Amino acid sequence: MGNSKINSKIIFSHNLEQELLKWIGKYNPGKIFLATEETVNELWISKFEGFIKTNGIKKVVIPAGENNKKIESVAKIWEFLSQNGGDRKSLLINIGGGMLTDLAGFAATTFKRGIDFLNVPTTLLSQVDASVGGKTGINFGGFKNEIGTFKEPVAVIINTDFLKTIDKENFISGFAEMIKHGLIYSPEHLDELKRFDLEDIDYDLLQEIISHSVQVKEYFVANDPTEKNIRKALNFGHTIGHAFESYAWNQNRPIQHGHAVAYGMIAELYLSVKICNFPQSDFQNLTNWLLKLYGKFQISANDFDSLFELMTHDKKNEADRINFTLLSEIGKIEINQNCERDLIYESLVNYVNL
Ligand SMILES: NC(=O)c1ccc[n+]([C@@H]2O[C@H](COP(=O)([O-])OP(=O)(O)OC[C@H]3O[C@@H](n4cnc5c(N)ncnc54)[C@H](O)[C@@H]3O)[C@@H](O)[C@H]2O)c1
Ligand SMILES: [Zn+2]
Repeated sequence: MGNSKINSKIIFSHNLEQELLKWIGKYNPGKIFLATEETVNELWISKFEGFIKTNGIKKVVIPAGENNKKIESVAKIWEFLSQNGGDRKSLLINIGGGMLTDLAGFAATTFKRGIDFLNVPTTLLSQVDASVGGKTGINFGGFKNEIGTFKEPVAVIINTDFLKTIDKENFISGFAEMIKHGLIYSPEHLDELKRFDLEDIDYDLLQEIISHSVQVKEYFVANDPTEKNIRKALNFGHTIGHAFESYAWNQNRPIQHGHAVAYGMIAELYLSVKICNFPQSDFQNLTNWLLKLYGKFQISANDFDSLFELMTHDKKNEADRINFTLLSEIGKIEINQNCERDLIYESLVNYVNL
């Protein structure tokens, strides 16, 4: 298993073909495969058709969207590899958002007991989050990421040019994970995010800022690959955030993952003030900034019981306590903080009254 340390290479480049060629050269001709999804195929892969043909790369396209992150799509990739002469020396290049890289990464780690794969993430969320950590997987039996493996890709190529076609909502959803990285580890990173102009995006600057964000995730993953202790820092905002995400989904008014994490961060910053002495003034500033970026998902006191119930189902909880990663200041985490129901309700009251 490649999960004891970070062993994949993260490459930042605006020249995808040049980077891919370096890897393609290491594999036998005819043994390079490409997996993508429909939206990315139409917007981007069409630009690389010449390159794909010249290098004898065979392509499989999966329908886009989270509901295609399922076993049938894995079977489609296995079938494609099998029918096109894939063997243990093959390379699978995955180009797409987190849905596709999780899915095709899983297909690669299970085909013939595991073949090499390389990820080219095309959304901000997948570049700053799904690109690091070696988690692959699919949804199964109604549960998110129920089946999966830990396996690092041989390389991850990050190119912000892909982000020129993603919509604002997807963009700021990924941006929330960057804010989280700043909050849990780096005040400097948080400051550069605050300064970043979201209305007039500088893609070169963004590439640099993404590299800082990726370094934060790498730090936590490298020091705790299987999430026994400090990797839990990456769950900041997620315990309450996941409850918002599921609740919104159940109510047929779905929100993006990053938006849910933003609301979760507001609530968990409140808990941080109460339990870990997180500075009140930082709390106020951060809450205002997050509200400005993400608006507000409307809830009322009638929704608290359902939200709390969803939090108790979070798979990161031990026994029946609700376990949080909180902050005592920006960049300083406090893991394994148990919170009582009353205080969690108080954090929701605070959210409702904003
Ligand atoms: N492995 C991990 O550690 C990890 C971490 C975080 C999230 N994830 C997973 O990632 C997934 C979410 O990732 P996501 O937000 O990238 O979702 P996604 O892959 O579904 O992409 C979101 C949307 O953007 C479209 N898209 C992708 N690239 C585009 C581009 N360049 N231009 C225009 N549209 C584009 C997609 O077709 C889709 O409609 C979830 O399945 C989640 O579980 C995994
Ligand atoms: Zn997340």
